[in-house]
Formats: sequence, structure tokens, C-alpha cells
Amino acid sequence: MYKILMHGCCGAMGHAICRMCRDNEDFTVVAGVDKITECEEYSFPIFASPDECDVDFDVIIDFSNKSAVDAVTKFAMAKGKPIVCCTTALSDETVALLKEASEVIPVFKSANMSVGINVMVELVRQATKALYKDSDIEIIEAHHHRKLDAPSGTAIMIADAAKSAIDEDVEYVYDRHSVNEARKHNQIGISSIRGGNIVGEHEIMFIGDEETVSISHSAKTRDVFARGSLTAAAFVADAKPGMYDMSNVIAKAFED
Ligand SMILES: NC(=O)c1ccc[n+]([C@@H]2O[C@H](COP(=O)([O-])OP(=O)(O)OC[C@H]3O[C@@H](n4cnc5c(N)ncnc54)[C@H](O)[C@@H]3O)[C@@H](O)[C@H]2O)c1
Repeated sequence: MYKILMHGCCGAMGHAICRMCRDNEDFTVVAGVDKITECEEYSFPIFASPDECDVDFDVIIDFSNKSAVDAVTKFAMAKGKPIVCCTTALSDETVALLKEASEVIPVFKSANMSVGINVMVELVRQATKALYKDSDIEIIEAHHHRKLDAPSGTAIMIADAAKSAIDEDVEYVYDRHSVNEARKHNQIGISSIRGGNIVGEHEIMFIGDEETVSISHSAKTRDVFARGSLTAAAFVADAKPGMYDMSNVIAKAFED
């Protein structure tokens, strides 16, 4: 049974993970950290900062805010415990800190914890190799109206996968309202929609003169990210120090 410290326990994802761990034989949430320190739903203690946590745990799962990730990463390093970092829109400094941490503890970082999206990313890499020459690449993403960052970390992940399969400089163009010029072939357009309770929609289009190929993913419920983060927690709990992501988890499925 893995003991989880849930960082951001009072948020939408924190709640989804804590619900999933209830009556679960493999995972139990032993403590939480959040700006909000009261929640009737939880029987575990909630601390206002990681440094206040005096409860023994095996793995930290973080779904919080980019401003909170440095502190929890330093805490994980000090405790010598693995961290699954799922918060998005991280600064370059925070990404560098996570990399530094991965020299001493296992660090799992992914902007999208769903297995399906990570399979999509692999398909995008393949499709780009075959289709880029004759098509323009555009990405559209849609999320709920509470989401703070745009474009989504997942849209960037998909764009990065396409970029990695292209042998020339690629420029990302975010929405087009400020760009009054014709589209260049070496651009990847990324557009965001925000509204209602959309969990997460991503589509990449390879638009040629004669045909369009689309690859899309639709998350129906936050549970898909919750389940992925628990899979990641089990993965890092038994891993050596290093930097991991979902590609390590799904690698087996892509073996010949
Ligand atoms: N990697 C993925 O698969 C994935 C999936 C969904 C969401 N996310 C990302 O995870 C993060 C959280 O998403 P959410 O939908 O649960 O958001 P949310 O706003 O519902 O929850 C965030 C929680 O973090 C807490 N928090 C904020 N600042 C804090 C601080 N300084 N210290 C401690 N707690 C703090 C908030 O009080 C809140 O309870 C976002 O960055 C989101 O983009 C990632």
C-alpha cells in the first residue's frame, strides 16, 4: 500500500485523487497540503505548507499551482521522497529545479497524466514525419472556464512532439489575432477555447491542399488524470532517482 501526500488536496484534481484512493487497497492518502486547510470530506490532516507536514509518506502527488511547486520540490528533496508533478505552466526555473531534484530522487513530470494523450503524442510524432512536407499543422484545445493557463500544457506537449519530428526551425503561433500576415509553412498554430466544465479536448490537424488528417483526444472525466497519477506514483515509488514521464509507463506498448 502506497502512502500518498496529496499536494493541492482541496482542488478539483486533489478531490478526484482522494476519492479514487478511498477504499483502495493499493493507495491511501495520509496527508494533504493546500492553501485551504479545512475540508469536511477528508479524515487526513491538511497542512498549509509542505514543511509543516510531520506525517510519514511514500510519494508526493502534486496538482496545485505553479507558484507552489518550488517549495514542494525542495521538500521532496529534503525528505528523499519521490514526487509526481502534474501542475502545468511551470517556469523555466521550476523545471530546472525539478531536473536538479531528479539527480537525488525520482521525479515524474507530465503535463498530461492520461495514457490516451500520451499514446496520441506518439502517433503525432509518426504522423508528422509522414505528413509535414505537404500539410500545415494546427492544434486546437478546449478546457473549463476555471483553467488559469493557456494554451494548455498538453497542447504544448503535442506541439513539441510534432516539432521533434521536423527537420527545420519551427515557430509556435498562439491564436492569430495579433498576426496580420499569411501563414508560413514552418509554423504550428495553437488555439485555445475556454468554457463551462470541459475536462480537456485536444485536436491536431495536418491540413493539406487535398486532404486533412486529424488526431484528437477527449477526456471525459478528471478521473483519467487521477488514475494516471496513481500509476505514476506506483512507478516512482519503486524507481531510482531520475526524470520520468508517461512515455516510460507506456513504452512497453510501443515495443515491436
Ligand atoms: N498533468 C495533468 O494531467 C493535469 C490534469 C489536470 C490538471 N492539471 C494541472 O494541475 C493543476 C491543478 O489543477 P486543478 O484543476 O486541480 O486546479 P484547482 O485550482 O482546482 O486546484 C488547485 C489547488 O491547489 C491549491 N493551491 C494553490 N496554490 C497553492 C499553494 N501555494 N500551496 C498549496 N496549495 C495551493 C488551491 O488552493 C487548490 O486547492 C493545474 O496546474 C492544472 O493545469 C494537470
